[in-house]
Amino acid sequence: MNAPEKLSLFVLSAWSAQQLATVEQALSRWVACPTDAPAPAGLGDAMRYAVLDGGKRLRPLLVMAAREAVNGSMEAALRAACAVELIHAYSLVHDDMPCMDNDVLRRGKPTVHVRFGQAQALLAGDALQALAFELLTPEGDSVAVATQAHLCRMLAQAAGFQGMAGGQAIDLASVGRPLTSDQLHDMHRLKTGALLQTSVMMGAACGAATPAAQSALRDYGAAVGLAFQVVDDILDVTADSATLGKTAGKDAAQDKPTFVSLMGLQASRDYAQQLLAHALARLEVSGLENTHALRALADMLVNRQH
Ligand code: IPE
Ligand code: IPE
Ligand code: MG
Ligand code: MG
Ligand code: MG
Repeated sequence: MNAPEKLSLFVLSAWSAQQLATVEQALSRWVACPTDAPAPAGLGDAMRYAVLDGGKRLRPLLVMAAREAVNGSMEAALRAACAVELIHAYSLVHDDMPCMDNDVLRRGKPTVHVRFGQAQALLAGDALQALAFELLTPEGDSVAVATQAHLCRMLAQAAGFQGMAGGQAIDLASVGRPLTSDQLHDMHRLKTGALLQTSVMMGAACGAATPAAQSALRDYGAAVGLAFQVVDDILDVTADSATLGKTAGKDAAQDKPTFVSLMGLQASRDYAQQLLAHALARLEVSGLENTHALRALADMLVNRQH
């Protein structure tokens, strides 16, 4: 069987449905009752509301796809996939708060602070962040201790000042200020790209990858991560709120610098396609055989409509 025939046998929707069923079940279990003790004073309700029943789960899918490429441990990957999604969900809860983007709609529902109040939203985000690291460090030997530490370090770096939180700080400091192309790239790489790239690298860390494969996956993750935020900027302009499940047109209304405001709509679309081509080219030379899911996910991430 030649390569194109082999590729055509891979159906992303079928693969995703299977992975998502596993991830959703794990998230429901872990967020519902993280340590066999319910979260007090309604905090558990706010946490579940933020995480369950919504979201495309792209970061968990990237973890699972990278795990598949390196034939890594399922237990470690499932924990990594859920941990990354918890960090992402927490970042959205805080991103939507009045002190940040002041959004009222997320994943087709009122935002967490609208539903539960600001203090509870702040605490739900805090608790989800902590829970992410708890998931990565199970007792016993189901995940090798060295792998646990490696996964924690990667996620901490992607979530903190060198990653998402740092990027969000740049985002807020840039309202109303035109950024140069380099500055905009830096902001997007940190606020969104870091967590997506780290999803790929955490999946890879669940198995063994050659240095060449790791380098290719790192580049793939960086390209896909940046393309993802470029597309988010495009959809903010081109899609409607019902399709997005969040308020469309917010970036222009809040005078945020975006790829669309910097280079226009068509150039942003072209740029996203260039990044996709680069991501796929890097996979080609990774030496990894089973990259069907990673390839298909990159395509879906860049060509998505919501
Ligand atoms: C939205 O991320 C926020 C950004 C980082 C741009 P997603 O588009 O992945 O949001 P969900 O998880 O599907 O709701
Ligand atoms: C949010 O970027 C990125 C993070 C939450 C880290 P945006 O502010 O553009 O995300 P949306 O458009 O509200 O989903
Ligand atoms: Mg924001
Ligand atoms: Mg926002
Ligand atoms: Mg946006």
